[in-house]
Amino acid sequence: MREARVWFGVDYYPEHWPKSRWKVDAKLISKAGFNVVRLAEFAWCRLEPSPGRFDFSWLDEIIGELAEKGIKVVLGTPTAAPPPWLVRLYPDILPVSYQGHRMPPVARRHYCPNNPNYLKATERIVRALAEHYKDEPNVIGYQIDNELSLGDEYCYCQHCIRLFREWLKRKYGDIDELNKAYGTIFWSHEYGDWTEIYPPAPPFDMCNRGLALDWLRFRSESFIKFLELQAKIIRSVSPDKKITTNLMGLFPGIDYYELSRRLDFPSWDCYPKFCHADYDPAWVAMLHDATRCMGKDRSYWVMELQAGPTDGYHGHPIGVTPEPGELRKWAYQAIAHGANGVVYFRWRTVCFGKEQYWHGILNHDGEVNRRYLEVKCLGEELRKISDLIAGTKYQSDVGLMFSYEALWATLIERGYYSMGYHDQVLSLYKGFWLRGINVDVISPNENFMRYKVLLTPFLYLTSKSLIKKLKEYVHNGGILIATARTSVKDEYNRVYSDGLPGGLIDLFGMKVTDYTYLPAERKANIVVDGKVIRAVGWLEELTPSSAQVLGVHDYKWLKGKAAVTINRYGKGYAVYIGSFPSTDIANHIVGALIKRGIIRPLVRIEGDHLELTVKEGSDYKLVFLINHEERNKSVKLHFAKAFRIKGLLKGGTSHGKENEYKLKLNPHDVEILYLEE
Ligand code: GAL
Ligand code: ZN
Repeated sequence: MREARVWFGVDYYPEHWPKSRWKVDAKLISKAGFNVVRLAEFAWCRLEPSPGRFDFSWLDEIIGELAEKGIKVVLGTPTAAPPPWLVRLYPDILPVSYQGHRMPPVARRHYCPNNPNYLKATERIVRALAEHYKDEPNVIGYQIDNELSLGDEYCYCQHCIRLFREWLKRKYGDIDELNKAYGTIFWSHEYGDWTEIYPPAPPFDMCNRGLALDWLRFRSESFIKFLELQAKIIRSVSPDKKITTNLMGLFPGIDYYELSRRLDFPSWDCYPKFCHADYDPAWVAMLHDATRCMGKDRSYWVMELQAGPTDGYHGHPIGVTPEPGELRKWAYQAIAHGANGVVYFRWRTVCFGKEQYWHGILNHDGEVNRRYLEVKCLGEELRKISDLIAGTKYQSDVGLMFSYEALWATLIERGYYSMGYHDQVLSLYKGFWLRGINVDVISPNENFMRYKVLLTPFLYLTSKSLIKKLKEYVHNGGILIATARTSVKDEYNRVYSDGLPGGLIDLFGMKVTDYTYLPAERKANIVVDGKVIRAVGWLEELTPSSAQVLGVHDYKWLKGKAAVTINRYGKGYAVYIGSFPSTDIANHIVGALIKRGIIRPLVRIEGDHLELTVKEGSDYKLVFLINHEERNKSVKLHFAKAFRIKGLLKGGTSHGKENEYKLKLNPHDVEILYLEE
């Protein structure tokens, strides 16, 4: 939804409060400047109190109250929490663990996305909801389900097993093809019939790698199909309503990039301080950049933004309370990365059920408090600059690849590598984040030809088509930067048998001829132009054919052997780094790209670090600056060109066109600079 406004809202559960309170809530919500509210995603038992009997009257009423204040609504389809009557009628909707136990219906997400009874019940409620609101202009769209897969639940019911076998049959056609692809001769697994195949049980690393990967793919597709079923109904009934779902950053259960192609825009749930009092703002920034890139037209929302201290969860303590300025800062961080909707979770803290300490903006007592006043000020601020923000786009010359297939291959071998997939992607990302360079976090299926630089950290698994695309990319002039353990596995999750990096030896102009795991307590360095750079996690000896050596190892028997190479390939370059991406390596890469003029940052910050992103408007730019630390910062900004500069939040201005701008920011404070040439 790219519109001339920023959607700003809260997740509201009117069904948790007496009706007498609704008017007060609507008034306070509107006074805070919110223009949208998400409703009903866990209200199935009230929307359909008994099979086929619907009651939308209460929802109509609250939508009406909100509409009176000019507030629009996103409705959740309620399928994340099947009501008790449904489980009573069809106990087989409950997911089955690999030990054969049915999950008890005591929390939420207790359904199998492949169960025919569940699909029927889903169709019925979604159709009824869509029909009822098809002509209601105040309902602008739907959130399908809620956090579709947490990533660690797998259903082993008879339907899932049957459909998995059918899925395999469609994929391989012939059982011998599957045997070949998996290498089932290992441990005598050669199948003679599809019904002999069972899904792998955790720990997956004890199972056949090809089978385990296909199971994760199947599972991801099962949820995507479940979403598609709902999306199709909504689209057929009310094609004008937008469709989204709330993702969770880069959770492993579903390939979010694939899923998002079915949406009008993706959204995600952002809880910076959940479980981490001292969280890394770069991690949050990266998840924003990933979710944005999942969107077809690069628009996305934050559907749940942390609004207070979080609840305890699975042994984690209750979260620390967001400090003054943090709620505002988190919203601006989302906007800085391209979000066009920011919705806080939740409006008021609930007094019963689970999540009694998962705080909303208001505490349990429903009184106006510090957090409310903070978001209210933000609401006023946003109203003034909303048009300017909505007129800009986040753009980037740098693509950072996040491959779900590579992630899954590494998760199947959980613990094999000391630095996990997410951490490696983050480490490289952070090199750019620290220098304020916009980055797109993209999937391998994206058309990445337009990026000047493409980073593929720990691209453990590649397909034939990806190999072809990477070569084409470099051939046409792209700069590809890869790190250790690139293209180790093929699309069947087998190690390439003709040398590493599999299928890419000619592209990189070198071969990996020796390698070692590097435990955290062992120090190893790489020397580039006399500069010593810290390596981590894994070391590879690279033996060049056509590549030039940029750096060498300084570690035991590898000393003096090639550690970093660069190869001219067509019009571009392919760089390979024989280590996992340490912070040092990430810094060095960014430094080298800037020094060679490949990346030309618009702004350089002198002094302290601030998070910095740039958004482009038609004839202006916005520079977002955020102080994530708990100390005052004083910086000088150096621009690549002279601009007329205006501080939108703090009111500073330059005198005429200037290349420099001085700025002070208190802890958690934000500034947005408006630049005109
Ligand atoms: C989200 C979820 C919400 C709520 C919140 C706090 O992950 O979507 O429904 O549970 O966390 O736990
Ligand atoms: Zn199942």
